[in-house]
Amino acid sequence: MRTDTAPTIFRQDYTPYPYRLPQVRLEFDLAAESTQVRSELRFEPAPGTAPGTPLVLQGEDLELVEVRLDGRPLAADEYQLTDDTLSLVPPGHGKPFSIGIVSLCHPAVNTTLMGLYVSGDKLFTQCEAQGFRRITWFPDRPDVMARFEVLLRADPAVYPLLLSNGNLIEQAGLPDGRHQALWRDPHPKPCYLFALVAGDFDCIERTETTRSGREVLLQVYSDKGCREQTRWALDCLARALHWDERRFGLELDLDRFMVVAARDFNMGAMENKGLNIFNAAYVLADPDTATDAAYRGIEAVIGHEYFHNWTGNRVTCRDWFQLSLKEGLTVFRDQEFSADMLAEGLPPAEAASARAVKRIDDVHTLRLAQFPEDAGPMAHPIRPDSYQEIGNFYTATVYEKGAEVIRMQHTLLGEDGFRAGMDEYFRRYDGQAVTCDDFVDAMESVYVQRHPGKDFSIFRRWYQQAGTPRVRVRSHYDPENRTCRITLEQRCAPAGLEARQTPPPQKPPLHIPFAIGLIDADGRSLPIHWEDETRDTVVLELREASQTWTLTDIPRPPVLSLLRDFSAPVILETDRTADDLALLARHDPDPFARWDAVQETAHRHLQACMQADRDGNPQPALDDLLEIWRTALIDPTLSPAYRARLLALPALREVIDRGDPMDPRAAVAAWTRTRQTLGAQLADAWRTLYDAMADDGGPYSPDPVSSGRRALRNLALDNLLAGQASGAAELALAQYRQARNMTEGLGALTALLQHAPQDASGPLADFHERWRDDPLVLDRWFGAQASAPGCTVSGVRALMALPDFSLRNPNRARAVVFRFCMDNPGNLHTLEGYDFWAEQVLALDALNPEIAARLSRAFDNWARYEPVARAGMQAALQRVLDAPGLSRNVREIVSKALG
Ligand code: ARG
Ligand code: ZN
Repeated sequence: MRTDTAPTIFRQDYTPYPYRLPQVRLEFDLAAESTQVRSELRFEPAPGTAPGTPLVLQGEDLELVEVRLDGRPLAADEYQLTDDTLSLVPPGHGKPFSIGIVSLCHPAVNTTLMGLYVSGDKLFTQCEAQGFRRITWFPDRPDVMARFEVLLRADPAVYPLLLSNGNLIEQAGLPDGRHQALWRDPHPKPCYLFALVAGDFDCIERTETTRSGREVLLQVYSDKGCREQTRWALDCLARALHWDERRFGLELDLDRFMVVAARDFNMGAMENKGLNIFNAAYVLADPDTATDAAYRGIEAVIGHEYFHNWTGNRVTCRDWFQLSLKEGLTVFRDQEFSADMLAEGLPPAEAASARAVKRIDDVHTLRLAQFPEDAGPMAHPIRPDSYQEIGNFYTATVYEKGAEVIRMQHTLLGEDGFRAGMDEYFRRYDGQAVTCDDFVDAMESVYVQRHPGKDFSIFRRWYQQAGTPRVRVRSHYDPENRTCRITLEQRCAPAGLEARQTPPPQKPPLHIPFAIGLIDADGRSLPIHWEDETRDTVVLELREASQTWTLTDIPRPPVLSLLRDFSAPVILETDRTADDLALLARHDPDPFARWDAVQETAHRHLQACMQADRDGNPQPALDDLLEIWRTALIDPTLSPAYRARLLALPALREVIDRGDPMDPRAAVAAWTRTRQTLGAQLADAWRTLYDAMADDGGPYSPDPVSSGRRALRNLALDNLLAGQASGAAELALAQYRQARNMTEGLGALTALLQHAPQDASGPLADFHERWRDDPLVLDRWFGAQASAPGCTVSGVRALMALPDFSLRNPNRARAVVFRFCMDNPGNLHTLEGYDFWAEQVLALDALNPEIAARLSRAFDNWARYEPVARAGMQAALQRVLDAPGLSRNVREIVSKALG
């Protein structure tokens, strides 16, 4: 919908729908150009609904053929049609009535990929959040839950396979040569969980026995010829099924669970009941075409969508402000699933380090995507109070910060308590559409029972407040009394639009679980006496603006290990010295905090480099970081995967984000120079490590040990190239030639493009020749180039001019346009770069507003940049805002950015 003014929707304005909809029947006559939908909706007035209360249905981009009430066709003056609604006054007798609607939609010209759309020669749907209204008129809101019966009719030559939610009831040929399939979903659901798929597919399947002994059929559908690439996805699905039984006692409630891969898809995947539709990037994998990271990504997303079957589908959201109810919780669940899969079968110490690798990656994502969001004009609480376009609120805050808020509840309740809270949640709300408060109610009921006298109520503020809190830590050791006093102080600056309010809003303190440990100067853990026990790690529960704890019986002066396992989504402010950090970087037994100490050391160095540049001083010494890296590089007690994290410099985007003001060019310079120095100074060690991590020649497996070795080896190669070690380019070329899997091949290609582009042309041409017909692999080829420092605006335009490029395919647009705008700051931050961004936002907006709005967010934080970048970005934003016919999606983002 295109509008010049977008109304704001407020959470406080929620009212229940006045009618219930127990039963829905849909009949589809499927064809790409025009699909006819015939719906039969059995309504009944909700208790308390006054006679004469209008029935309002949503519809968008539809053609109305006919409306019937209890079988009687309605005349045009008996209902009202607007751009986006159909309303009528039902009979006032208070009894059930039925509405029949016949309408047309046009999948072939639907480039938004919301509602029913064409991808290749197949038909798919995407209904969350408000896509169902693009299929037919309907009460398109999550609190209206109905049993669906769906009849699909189509030409079997084009659409041999017809899928929808639930169970296949019957399939038959029709006299006119078409065929039909009838599907019935036994579970009531909101329409955002509806799905249909039609086309020609490969399928692999297997049966699993659930813990109550039921046989269930698991299926994965993909393009013809891709069958062998779906084995890993099916395997992940089976593991997810059993994991949810073990860890949460949740069993699959369907006889049949289908996953279908789509080439054109706006997001990662969608949890439609029993018929998950996935971006093909999160289904297809084999060693030749998928990296280790892609294998892990598939595991996470397959898990995520599967887990939604309980957290999202069985218990769903009352309204879209509650999105984090299902998303935050389900991200937490998929994170735990992935961590458990990494740790499976390892002895405890190694298992802890394997889980920490996952935790590090998740925190890295949070800092990269969510912290900047919380510091910009789109900042919102995990449960937003208002929006203009809900499609804009599938954010890192709702998902990733939402998962952190769930994780804190897990920390405060413990594994058993959390499980009891989850059980209580399902006991109370199964089959209902509920709110975030309802979830916290269930958790609170367990918390207060297990912690008499303790209060959980202020924890809810995490759902109300935007912005990343800062926690300042001060400590004092008293050698005479052998005590250590620790003071935590929290504050949260005005976030997003709050910053423009006068006076700025008061933000009450949050309930922050803050995990700490102590180590002595020799790196040994100092046990802490706490609640009648002795522990290495304790969780301080900060509930006030400032609180002090005194730890007793501390024999020697401690160094503080802070925010262990990242126990809360906050920013630390400490007076820890470089020596403290170096000690933690070598000895902290908490693998997350140890990694964070290395990160902090690197950040401090990078900021010092930028400061030196600004002041015209010589570059600061790199000794601290060099020494830490030198030891970690050769530490055989550390798993390769963990070592690869420890030895990674913070991402460039994080470095830029830390600047005040943000200065992309200065950050690129400092970052590049630091990588060069580290690579050069440690060249011998990197070379030894590179050889030591060589493949053992066995068959490919994405397991954490062998993928960790590949990650570390690629990192070594990257460092050798960054440091311009002699023979490094040859090494990369050899690795490319001899690659036995995509991780090695792409690792070599990327390192060459980053550091030795003059040597990359051979592999680039070879890669294209080999993979030109595999879209997902070709995306890698595009992405590696678009994000390379040598790719200027004319370079990215050249990529877009290739016949393989299309803006209509979101994966391809992400590989080229997004990678350039997000991961190539050195070239984006030029006048041509700003023009390019504005032009692409507008071009995408004409096709796919949701994707365009995502790209438009790249300039969210323009006001925090140094003056030249700031002015350029502001002008580009203004150019977008002034363009005629802007979608509601992009308009909301850009107008909020400009304030
Ligand atoms: N519920 C899906 C998931 O998280 C995401 C769907 C988002 N859809 C959208 N059009 N923004 O798994
Ligand atoms: Zn989700």
